[in-house]
Amino acid sequence: MTTAIIGIGKIGGAVARHLVAGGESVVLAATDQSHVEALAGELGPLARAASVEDAIADGDAVVFAVWLDTMRELIPRHARLLEGKVVVDPSNPIGFDESGQPFRTLPEGQSAGSVVARAASSGRTLREGVRHARRGRARRRRTPRATAGGALLRDGR
Ligand SMILES: NC(=O)c1ccc[n+]([C@@H]2O[C@H](COP(=O)([O-])OP(=O)(O)OC[C@H]3O[C@@H](n4cnc5c(N)ncnc54)[C@H](OP(=O)(O)O)[C@@H]3O)[C@@H](O)[C@H]2O)c1
Repeated sequence: MTTAIIGIGKIGGAVARHLVAGGESVVLAATDQSHVEALAGELGPLARAASVEDAIADGDAVVFAVWLDTMRELIPRHARLLEGKVVVDPSNPIGFDESGQPFRTLPEGQSAGSVVARAASSGRTLREGVRHARRGRARRRRTPRATAGGALLRDGR
């Protein structure tokens, strides 16, 4: 199984390192290709660098380790490539003001997950995504090779 990791900052970089340490293949993408190539080189043969589009196309699961506004752009743009894949969304509705103080970027009661689920214009709802993840887990149980990372799907943060 190959995991595409879009964004290789604090979260994406950590997820990439953990997956590779567990023997998993990753394909990495971000805006600065030189950072991506440097991390892929550091992680070794299980990691490679790609464009965002190629990474999504090649991944069986896709981790969007980018800020919520970026995810709002990327998910609709690549909706067709995401069809049938597990999408992992670690986002929070958090921004930082000029003094570095965190603030909530969405109204109270609105979750980042609900925004991302709406952005997924492929028509897959979160419920369908959970069903897809369960089918994936059942498939993995039938295969002898253990995976380091399971499907992560958010539900309401
Ligand atoms: N950090 C935390 O403790 C934490 C905890 C929980 C959840 N989260 C969530 O995780 C997400 C990522 O946070 P982070 O702290 O890892 O952010 P970060 O360190 O700022 O990394 C963001 C990454 O996104 C990439 N990126 C930006 N625009 C892009 C685009 N258009 N296409 C592809 N890649 C793009 C950046 O690439 P370049 O550097 O090449 O521009 C960078 O690698 C956020 O939604 C955040 O809310 C973070």
